[in-house]
Amino acid sequence: MNKPKVLISRRWPASVEAKLQQLYDVTLNHDDQPLSADQFRLALQNYDAVCPSVCDSLPADVLNVANKRCQILGNFGVGFNHIDIKAAQANKLIVTNTPGVLTESTADIAMTLLLMSARRGAEGDRLVRAGQWQGWCPTHMMSSDVTGTTLGLIGFGRIAQAMARKAHHGFGMKILYFKPTPADPAVVADLQAEACSSIEDVLSRSDFVSLHCPGGQATRHLINAERLSLMKTSAHLINTARGDVVDSQALIHALRNQQITGAGLDVYEGEPNIDPGFLDLENVSLLPHLGSATIKTRTAMGDKVLANLEAFFSGKPLPDRVV
Ligand code: DGY
Repeated sequence: MNKPKVLISRRWPASVEAKLQQLYDVTLNHDDQPLSADQFRLALQNYDAVCPSVCDSLPADVLNVANKRCQILGNFGVGFNHIDIKAAQANKLIVTNTPGVLTESTADIAMTLLLMSARRGAEGDRLVRAGQWQGWCPTHMMSSDVTGTTLGLIGFGRIAQAMARKAHHGFGMKILYFKPTPADPAVVADLQAEACSSIEDVLSRSDFVSLHCPGGQATRHLINAERLSLMKTSAHLINTARGDVVDSQALIHALRNQQITGAGLDVYEGEPNIDPGFLDLENVSLLPHLGSATIKTRTAMGDKVLANLEAFFSGKPLPDRVV
């Protein structure tokens, strides 16, 4: 019997690519160049499974292509706001994702950004590299404390809770959160966390605000100029969720005018194109979407896609079906 034809849109960890080669008639992307919309249309017509990643855009006008062979989109990533889910459903395309395995590494990056922003880590690194450090002095690069301060979480899913554990048990931080539905009482008790009745409440009471909601139309510019104006002037905003949750122009304005003290960003509106307004600000720490970028996590993400493909092609229930 012929093996199913599978297309992988970008380079994946070598051990996962090797397994794919054993199991499928697979096309890998050796050059690691992003595929164009037309290449995706062609892939949907010629492969049984197409495996995009969070950097690929799959809008309706790609998914609606005629004469499709593809039945499943095995997404490498937990977020799926880059796939038009309604169009996937209308085209009878199954979509799977990779939840659970990137929780700790993404929470680690959120803590990294929190610490970098609080303690001016990126700015200090730039200063040393530029040969501008003139030695220790009592008032040099004073910054914000982390230990014992308040962390506010907008969204309280797996990654937010993992960050809260690190912050509360490691740094003695008080945890506030906003979640539209009730949180697990055991988790809340372990973290001695306090539920806030609104996003506004989290923003006005926190020293650090970290965003953990999904991307997409419903959360686009959730953090806008008005909401930024509610934050303490000493506060920092951390975004490891999705870029379009924050209105970049409003954040640049708030940072430039010291309306808030700092920000740490791993994700951007329209990434990888970053609003140039961020680049000349000292009080923003910028990472290139590294949340899940550890060898262990990326391998586990690839293995999750494999598990979903294997279940699909052997007619078993899919472990991580989105639609
Ligand atoms: C995801 O999987 O959605 C992450 O953003 C990738 O790090």
